[in-house]
Amino acid sequence: MKKQDKVLFFDTTLRDGEQSPGASMNLKEKLLVANQLDTLGVDIIEAGFPISSPGDFEAVKMVAKQIKGSSVAGLCRAADKDIKVCWDAVKYAKKPRIHIFLATSDLHIEKKLQKTRAQVLDMAVKAVKYGKSLCSDIEFSAEDAGRSDMDYLCKVVEAVIDAGAKTVNIPDTVGYTMPGEFGSKIAEIKRRVPNINKAVISVHCHNDLGLAVANSLSAIENGARQVECTINGIGERAGNASLEEIVMALTVRPRYYNVGHSIRTKEIYKASKLVSNLTGIIVQVNKAIVGANAFAHEAGIHQDGVLKDRGTYEIMNPQDIGIPENSLVLGKHSGRHAFFKRIKDLGYKQIEAQTLEQLFEKFKILADKKKVIFDDDIIALIEEDSSSGQEIFSLEYVSATSGTGTIPTATVRITKNEKPVKAGIKTSGEKVKSASIREAACGTGPVDAAYKAIDKITGMELKLTDYSLRAVSSGEDALGEVNLKASYNEMIYSGKGTSTDIVEASVKAYMQAVNKAKSFSLKMNDKKGKK
Ligand code: KIV
Ligand code: ZN
Repeated sequence: MKKQDKVLFFDTTLRDGEQSPGASMNLKEKLLVANQLDTLGVDIIEAGFPISSPGDFEAVKMVAKQIKGSSVAGLCRAADKDIKVCWDAVKYAKKPRIHIFLATSDLHIEKKLQKTRAQVLDMAVKAVKYGKSLCSDIEFSAEDAGRSDMDYLCKVVEAVIDAGAKTVNIPDTVGYTMPGEFGSKIAEIKRRVPNINKAVISVHCHNDLGLAVANSLSAIENGARQVECTINGIGERAGNASLEEIVMALTVRPRYYNVGHSIRTKEIYKASKLVSNLTGIIVQVNKAIVGANAFAHEAGIHQDGVLKDRGTYEIMNPQDIGIPENSLVLGKHSGRHAFFKRIKDLGYKQIEAQTLEQLFEKFKILADKKKVIFDDDIIALIEEDSSSGQEIFSLEYVSATSGTGTIPTATVRITKNEKPVKAGIKTSGEKVKSASIREAACGTGPVDAAYKAIDKITGMELKLTDYSLRAVSSGEDALGEVNLKASYNEMIYSGKGTSTDIVEASVKAYMQAVNKAKSFSLKMNDKKGKK
């Protein structure tokens, strides 16, 4: 019997996924995701686009240093400087990869790049050769391959393999192709490119017509052996192919596909929750595999069938993707040990002891307010902690009044520290000079009033560009989570806050954005001072 071959999973949650509007993550958050992807067993983690910003460079470098299982890739354009910067970030990885992309469709070549096909072919070859002089593992992506001329695409693929590319990626960049059509393109490349056996064919499908997963699966049927995808399908515009859907299709239909993979499916649910919580992008309830209703049976006939034999209406077991059987476990009587174990079970394996203790204190306070603590509540506590950074302004208290016929008013008291301190750590024990300032303001509602009072104290007026409030778990006493974005001096800052009190959650989120904006202005002033 023919040896079963394997599909490699290339996860781009931290690069293409992070390009989703509003999905940006800080360094700590990216490292949490990267570690979970490693545990999940993805073959390659694309950690970012190093030349795009100093933050991205640092994130790729840190992921490269920490991850020991998966290969770590960085994205770059086909230009020497991009490639060198990418290498400087990924070179720390046990298994580094440079991912070079260049458009091959006439539309992109003529309108975007303003070049000829011959020039682009030459650039592609030169870029791969240069990349190869730095790193043995080179992937080349023919951007907009889905709309590229097939003769030209085959020529480019052949040339980059000759130049040293080990993986050739065929992206459907704008999600334009149909599954049968895309599969035929992969089959044609396999048939027509003479040196194709020297490289792995990869695909990278976008979901503009809702076909990213179908196109990726069709490509696998036709010989692709790497799929690029993201957790929960997040990504540019309508997103990328969702990792969990491709993995489960291969797992549920092994005889149809006859290809293996190295994904630990029991880690899927944790990865989905983690990414959703960190990015603030909520998973739709009817989303395949990880949506809240994916295993919920409403119709009486279905419930009856499932009780008699799960297989009547279920093609997979929720436990196969790691959905906990019972998540209603913790309350005010739960101890440290149970709490720490739950945190580990939820996928947060690398939290420092001091942070764990602080989280336990917050958990106890929350457990006094709420009857039961759900997994989502614990995740919200962890994420609030990991998204907070250094604070110049620390919230002491907020009190707000509102109601029919009254003018919404808020009083806020804030400690202003002379230099930034770690969020959540009291300044009293440290030698940091601070002053406590109180202000009151009126507004259109209690949140607006509180924000105005904060602005009076900080002397900074942030403009809210995005605000969302959601209940983290179920029940009347559910934690509220606020995610917001605010602009200041032409930069956008994000903030996240949780509390059983929505005004307090809103203020915590705003304070995070204020502190980020303040830190950035201080850094900028510092730089100017040194010049
Ligand atoms: O969609 C796309 O074409 C990409 C490439 C950079 C691989 O994201
Ligand atoms: Zn893409």
